[in-house]
Amino acid sequence: KTKIAVFASGTGSNYEAIMDQINAGQLACEVALLVCDQPNAKVIGKAEELGTPLFVFDPKQYESKATFENEIVQRLQEQGVELIILAGYMRLIGPTLLAPYESKIINIHPSLLPAFPGKDAVGQAIEAGVRVAGVTIHFVDEGMDTGQIIDQQALYVEKGETRDSLQKRIQAIEHRLFPQTIQKLIEEQAETGERGASI
Ligand code: GAR
Repeated sequence: KTKIAVFASGTGSNYEAIMDQINAGQLACEVALLVCDQPNAKVIGKAEELGTPLFVFDPKQYESKATFENEIVQRLQEQGVELIILAGYMRLIGPTLLAPYESKIINIHPSLLPAFPGKDAVGQAIEAGVRVAGVTIHFVDEGMDTGQIIDQQALYVEKGETRDSLQKRIQAIEHRLFPQTIQKLIEEQAETGERGASI
């Protein structure tokens, strides 16, 4: 089974959706490590409950991004992690972590990229008054939400929609789309040994 690591900074609803699909036999991988950069994040309790090994760190305790990313790489290698899933990890990935995991890091973002990169994409969409919003899953490069797009799903913004209501509907899409896309990627990597041909 493919060993993955999930990186999260907040609530961890996408982490939970991934665990649900693994437990339902719909996603053939094992979450070998949950990496969290926020010592008070809700996702930590969820990972403890579900028995996922954890690496929680406080970036402020490190000299630089390279220093904590070095430690992350060590932990990933100890666990034999082959694929990194960013599920609400609110931090740019630096070269220390990117180099050994080139084409092996994917991110989910709550907008139709390249629209609304960065923080509070849902709020940005409401502010801009767009009629169509959505979700993007993409490979991670050194930019902010700029890597190659793997999959997207759109939804209409309703009249009178608020940031909260849109966020709820976007997250419902994420919880279905993310595990499905991860499964496809794992299958394609098993067949071709590399990034899937269809991507
Ligand atoms: C998700 O909606 C994800 O798309 C977003 O953070 C949320 C995390 O929710 N990510 C970004 O905005 C990345 N730029 P969760 O902790 O409940 O999975």
